[in-house]
Amino acid sequence: MKSGTIIAPSVLASDFSRLGDEVEAVSEAGADWIHLDVMDGHFVPNITFGAPIIKAIRNRTDKVFDCHLMIEPVDPYLSAFADAGCDIITVHAEATKHLDRSLQAIRDLGKRAGVALNPHTPVDVIEHVLDRLDLVCLMSVNPGFGGQKFIPEVIEKTRRVKALVNERPIDIEIDGGVDPDTAPGVLAAGANVLVAGSAVFKGEGVDGYRANIDAIRNAGK
Ligand code: DX5
Ligand code: ZN
Repeated sequence: MKSGTIIAPSVLASDFSRLGDEVEAVSEAGADWIHLDVMDGHFVPNITFGAPIIKAIRNRTDKVFDCHLMIEPVDPYLSAFADAGCDIITVHAEATKHLDRSLQAIRDLGKRAGVALNPHTPVDVIEHVLDRLDLVCLMSVNPGFGGQKFIPEVIEKTRRVKALVNERPIDIEIDGGVDPDTAPGVLAAGANVLVAGSAVFKGEGVDGYRANIDAIRNAGK
């Protein structure tokens, strides 16, 4: 776990026609991780990209690839995402029948294991898998699209996850509608990783992205 707030821009909001260049630019602008939203049109009502695209951009940065799998089933594809160069692989608790098995499979592939919870999913689903977990991703929008409105209920949820996680080295990530206005509440509640798509990529090029990343990182300080 890295100390300080980790900013993970989601390339979902980037210009897909220049995806490799966008990854490079946002890395240069101070991104800590690159958040990769994989959607299947089945678990979520949208389709984005898969392992081959991730593999193709892997050599454009040495930043952590934080892969958010919104796909069901998920277990058959874990090794493909590991081979593509993802460092963290996050599965949705709602998309796997055997969460413990999925997390163990990710760790067996030598990757960090994450679980994502939709806004309505109670936090207690992680209670008995804490020792297999490296990251909890709390969705602050219903997954499927960028640019949605932050759901403030996640602030209380973050507090509860923080209490469950306690001293364990587990990252608490917030995903959806994060910007300089919504960041302070979740940071104060115990989150340490902020995913941001539209709030980062609304800028132009490295300088614009840097200003946006800094604004989120320093929000509420
Ligand atoms: C939503 C994705 C998010 C999203 C964040 O399903 O998991 O990562 O792209 O985008 P913004 O920051 O625009 O809400
Ligand atoms: Zn995401």
